[in-house]
Amino acid sequence: MTAPELDRRELADRRLLLDRRSEEGERTEAAAERRKSERRVGIERRLALQSAAGQIDIGIEMVRRIAGDLRPPLLDHHDLGGAIEWEAQKFAARSGLRIRVSSRVTRDVPPELATATFRIFQEAVTNAVRHSGASTVVTRLTMARRELLLYVRDNGIGITEERLHSEVCLGLLGMRERARALGGDVQIKGKPGRGTILAMTLPLRAD
Ligand SMILES: Nc1ncnc2c1ncn2[C@@H]1O[C@H](COP(=O)(O)OP(=O)(O)OP(=O)(O)O)[C@@H](O)[C@H]1O
Ligand SMILES: [Mg+2]
Repeated sequence: MTAPELDRRELADRRLLLDRRSEEGERTEAAAERRKSERRVGIERRLALQSAAGQIDIGIEMVRRIAGDLRPPLLDHHDLGGAIEWEAQKFAARSGLRIRVSSRVTRDVPPELATATFRIFQEAVTNAVRHSGASTVVTRLTMARRELLLYVRDNGIGITEERLHSEVCLGLLGMRERARALGGDVQIKGKPGRGTILAMTLPLRAD
């Protein structure tokens, strides 16, 4: 081979090499692009799944709190007032909060009303312990001719309006839903620096 021929061959080889490299480069770029878009789809899918899972979690939590609730064992051995007094003592021993209970229940309380009232009491006191900074909780259980009434009042910081109307507060929602499912109602009010009061009303059957 002559010298110019060699040069030409070398030149051609180099061009081929360059072409190959740039093809490779394009392939790598395309692959990177594909990976990026796969990652994006992955993230979007994951986010969608997480949000769906979140919704399901909230749903399950609500069902657990409202419907799937078994009768509290204390109600197998005590009437509603007695069960609430026992539970109050347990709360007080655990938290150091003073919990006064007065109960004037003159007739038998239907089991589903007793369960609902007991659970609403538990949530109200749990909230007082966890969020209010109160020193005292006063609970009153009474019976009118057609209604069962429960008051739970603490002397803590007072629940804010914003919290009262939040749709993500499952404890508050659960209490209201539970009372509404029995045709009743739960009203909650907070006074800044002066505490929170909850009033539950459940209708008793006329018979
Ligand atoms: N007695 C209270 N005093 C002051 N703030 C309260 C009181 N009860 C509730 N709150 C406020 O209202 C919010 C909502 O209460 P809620 O019971 O719905 O949820 P939570 O107690 O935070 O969580 P959980 O779902 O475990 O019940 C609380 O996070 C708290 O900020
Ligand atoms: Mg709560």
